[in-house]
Amino acid sequence: MSTDIHKGLAGVVVDNTTISNVVAETNSLTYRGYPVQELAASCTFEEVAYLIWFGELPDAAQLRSFNERTRSQREVSRSTISIIDRLPDNCHPMDMLRTAVSCLGAEDPAEDDNSPQANQAKAEAMFAKLPTIVAHDYRRRQGLDRIAPDTSLGFSENFFHMCFGEVPPKEVVRCFEISMILYAEHSFNASTFTARVVTSTLSDIYSSVTAAIGALKGPLHGGANEAVMHMMLEIDDPAKAAQWLRDQVAAKNKVMGFGHRVYKDADSRVPTMKDAFTTMAELTGGEKWVAMYEELEAEMLSLKGIHPNLDFPAGPAYYLMGFSIPMFTPIFVMSRITGWSAHVIEQLAANALIRPLSAYTGESQREVPAATARL
Ligand code: CMC
Repeated sequence: MSTDIHKGLAGVVVDNTTISNVVAETNSLTYRGYPVQELAASCTFEEVAYLIWFGELPDAAQLRSFNERTRSQREVSRSTISIIDRLPDNCHPMDMLRTAVSCLGAEDPAEDDNSPQANQAKAEAMFAKLPTIVAHDYRRRQGLDRIAPDTSLGFSENFFHMCFGEVPPKEVVRCFEISMILYAEHSFNASTFTARVVTSTLSDIYSSVTAAIGALKGPLHGGANEAVMHMMLEIDDPAKAAQWLRDQVAAKNKVMGFGHRVYKDADSRVPTMKDAFTTMAELTGGEKWVAMYEELEAEMLSLKGIHPNLDFPAGPAYYLMGFSIPMFTPIFVMSRITGWSAHVIEQLAANALIRPLSAYTGESQREVPAATARL
């Protein structure tokens, strides 16, 4: 048996998938064969969610029925809301979301039905309810009354409505929609793999999503979009950005929003999100953040040859949309629920328990000393 160690599973191909394809050599990412930047240019997030789950873009009738089905499920039970309301105001919203998804599972009488139809229905219910949960939690922390979902509004418009009581100009909604499309799916990233590991034990989809939320929270993964904005606020002045970055690199600190395990040349999602971020800056007078972005990007490229990843433009774009920083990773969850749940269903369709090996480097086998010799 081979004892080669693949630290972090780097370069290891674990299974087949038909959901998305990351081709590092050409910097391309496709969902079901479609380049993600083309989807972001012309589709709604609801169309892309449908594509990720069902393998094809919907026609008009399919989209109408999908929207009716999901929009009508946006309300969240009183019991889940009351559990969220009992959480400390200062807990991270990702902790709240992890707890809330557990509650959705506990409330679902079909929790352990792992048929593809049952899991598809649960995935759509989470897609519908997660924005309501994130918006409710945001408002309760501000001491504001909750705003009920509006079934006449699309996914992104409804989220703004539930957070702020109004829908912003369509250009802002479009920038948010683009971020939802770009965040939706990314093959065997850490949180998706986590979901597949849990699923492989034949546990339920809510357990898989709860575990995936825990994996996404970390700053090396989804938590980076929050960390980027904290970093930018700390730097504050674009003129100080290059020196700040040089200091970080000299201290061997990781700079959030840069680097990627698979893309070494560039992250294919970045140019599209950078355009959306620039649009947000033009709409809100936030050009300072774009100037800082460009300083940091240029300095990192010249010092280390490392490119930004999607979290680098997404963090400041969400800031300019008016979201509080701790909401950024929960917003990522609202999108990635599509990819996670598609992978849960795919894993179950050809399941094998995920159980790797380890190379033991501890004490060699020895006898337990007799109690009289130990005590
Ligand atoms: N800042 C400074 N140096 C870096 C960075 C960075 N962000 N990323 C990689 N490096 C350097 C690293 O120090 C190492 O240098 P050396 O060989 O001289 O020691 C080399 O590049 C390889 O780094 P690694 O950490 O071994 O590479 P990895 O493939 O394990 O890392 C990563 C991938 C995403 C964990 C890493 O790039 C990182 O920590 N980035 C910052 C956090 C971040 O932005 N995460 C979001 C990832 S993408 C979106 C998502 O998944 O949510």
